Amino acid sequence: EKAGYDHFMLKEIFEQPKSIGDCLRGRLNAKEGHLHLGGINDYVNKISNADRILIVACGTSWHAGLVAEYIFEEYCRIPVEVEYASEFRYRNPIVGEKDVVIAISQSGETADTLAAIELAKSKGATILGVCNVVGASIPRTSHAGSYTHAGPEIGVASTKAFTAQISVLTMMALMLAHKKGSLTESEYRKLLVELEAVPDKVAKCLDLNAQIEIISEKFKDAANFLYLGRGYNFPVALEGALKLKEISYIHAEGYPAAEMKHGPIALIDENMPVVFIATKDSSYEKIVSNIQEVKARKGKVIAIVTEGDTDIAGMADYTVEVPAAHESLMPLISVIPLQLLSYHIAVMRGCNVDQPRNLAKSVTVE
Ligand code: M6R
Repeated sequence: EKAGYDHFMLKEIFEQPKSIGDCLRGRLNAKEGHLHLGGINDYVNKISNADRILIVACGTSWHAGLVAEYIFEEYCRIPVEVEYASEFRYRNPIVGEKDVVIAISQSGETADTLAAIELAKSKGATILGVCNVVGASIPRTSHAGSYTHAGPEIGVASTKAFTAQISVLTMMALMLAHKKGSLTESEYRKLLVELEAVPDKVAKCLDLNAQIEIISEKFKDAANFLYLGRGYNFPVALEGALKLKEISYIHAEGYPAAEMKHGPIALIDENMPVVFIATKDSSYEKIVSNIQEVKARKGKVIAIVTEGDTDIAGMADYTVEVPAAHESLMPLISVIPLQLLSYHIAVMRGCNVDQPRNLAKSVTVE
């Protein structure tokens, strides 16, 4: 059932070209300029007229929500707030009939997310579910939604569900933006082509596996890790850190790279590995200076960069080159090497990768 892989997590990481492809299939046809999410069709007007979109989720799904926030605001020009479901449900939030709530959950059974939905629903909000498990409680409670179609995810660490969530949310945003006219036809068509190209680019990232295994060997005994990214890659930094801590038990923190100066920089010395997600995008120059700041303090830099980037290669201790993509789609690509890094480090440390201590696949109690 592991199809020859040592662990479900590795199998699921390697399934991503297919799972993202399955998620896009039948919904997106770039050549024809076609994009259709049947599950939300009846709500497209409602969503495009929403006062704001609230996203509620936990863990990795919350990270997918942060990526979606940037995408929705950029393309649809609708204000978005992303909340931990556990905070939302207990803090008497302001929610009303003109709000659309998107609940993101792989399992569709997370107790806090379910409770957040119930609360928002009782205040008249429209609820859309973005879930993987068909027929689970969250999709049943939601007014509408779209499944991620990633197939069963067995490893406790979420991998292919994350990339499928972002794929669905990106399609939702593009569909709305097209409807609203907040994107030009040519921008829209270009993004559809870019999105369709993602599965092949993810496949290229998987070819980095052997290189990442070598890097993992160098850092497997580290006590701490920092992950830094900006813009669309900021949630990827959070996700990389979560993956590492949950399966390898190494303390790791993700930050927006600019926040480094407001505290974490004090931690940097020759024993601190810092993973930069530094692909070529609108914040590239800024992140390059952050890398220099870490190097000046003797931190060890592992940088995820765009193919052909020789500038960062000259500064970082290790560089991992990923295919170029539109910056809003980069999380789908830049997260792959981070999943592999955490996997290999955890295996080298003798950890139970698929069932880490103290964790359950779905958190059905609070
Ligand atoms: O099933 P859900 O997406 O609602 O689960 C949310 C979190 O419990 C989950 O993403 C958790 O953080 C994962 N173990 C992360 O890898």
